[in-house]
Amino acid sequence: MRVRVIAPGRVNLIGEHTDYNEGFVMPAAIEPSVFVEATSRSGRMVSARIDGPGRATSFSLDRLLPPRRNPVWVDYVKGVCWALERAGYVLRGANLEIKSTIPVGAGLSSSAALELGAAAALVNLAGLTIRPAEMAMLCRSAENEFVGVRCGIMDQFAVALGRAGRALLLDCRSLAYEYIPLVLERYRLLIVDSRVSRSLAASAYNRRREECEAAVQQLAVQLGRPLRSLRDLSLEEITGAQSYLPDLLFKRSLYVVEENGRVIKAAAALRGGDLHTFGRLMGLSHAGLRDLYQVSCPLLDLIVDTAAACPGVLGARMTGAGFGGCAVVLLEAKAVELTGEKIREAFARQGWPEPRFYLTAAAPGVTVEI
Ligand code: GLA
Repeated sequence: MRVRVIAPGRVNLIGEHTDYNEGFVMPAAIEPSVFVEATSRSGRMVSARIDGPGRATSFSLDRLLPPRRNPVWVDYVKGVCWALERAGYVLRGANLEIKSTIPVGAGLSSSAALELGAAAALVNLAGLTIRPAEMAMLCRSAENEFVGVRCGIMDQFAVALGRAGRALLLDCRSLAYEYIPLVLERYRLLIVDSRVSRSLAASAYNRRREECEAAVQQLAVQLGRPLRSLRDLSLEEITGAQSYLPDLLFKRSLYVVEENGRVIKAAAALRGGDLHTFGRLMGLSHAGLRDLYQVSCPLLDLIVDTAAACPGVLGARMTGAGFGGCAVVLLEAKAVELTGEKIREAFARQGWPEPRFYLTAAAPGVTVEI
């Protein structure tokens, strides 16, 4: 049997660092993707090769061991096998040929696409059917518990459930979701990869999660009611907390509460076809990520500030975990060239390598051809 899977990357339009705070996010799947060609083989061995010769490896489904230190690409594949089998799905041996057009480590979910791509291939080869939302959750548990990265649910959900021409509004507490038409017409989404290595991202990401958890504990004591997450706070409650919360925890919490509010407003703007308001909210989101949540970096700020000063740009913000990676710009189609040029010039003036640009529409989520 042969299966071909396309698993897209994702760009988050708004709602950053809110998923693990049980808040709202609004990503869209994008055209750069992971492509998996899979054939079945007898027994319980899986052989996998990524992007051509030289990067081939194999493992047994009966001996799935988590990585001891820095995970490599095949650990994500092993992780989904582990999560699927733990959930009671029995897989079969397979040969996986994997290619990717998603830049790795750029904040466009190359790992979630690899997880969902491998999972969909293996599930189909084994003759199983699993709903996309369950696939997303299994892949997230592979990343959390096997690979050892404490990500939220946004990336896997966007990759599994993205839809062409739609943004995905997701409530990360209930996992209820809504597709919102992303009617771009004379506008475009321009993704700019700063190409800054995100070497600090994992430890800083985990620290942000811990800070949010610490804030929830202190707020629960002060407010005298049980709090599950920052999602449970109103804007009044958090502004009132400035007097007793340590400054750092106050900033983190204020950002999260405000960002949740922005996602809801952005969804309303998009439903009404008001891209100007959407763009303004993107700018406010970036300011919060830079000043309060402190996960931006000088090159992401440079992209956002340079873009914001260009005619025809509606909004710009960093996207993904931050500390490098990509920014996303919403702009008029006719402004793409000049904006790209201005960003290139700004990078060159500061002696940085040229950024990479991707123009994309909202793409479909995982697709399987048998
Ligand atoms: C990474 C994580 C996501 C999310 C974003 C920040 O992409 O994988 O779960 O937390 O960072 O919004």
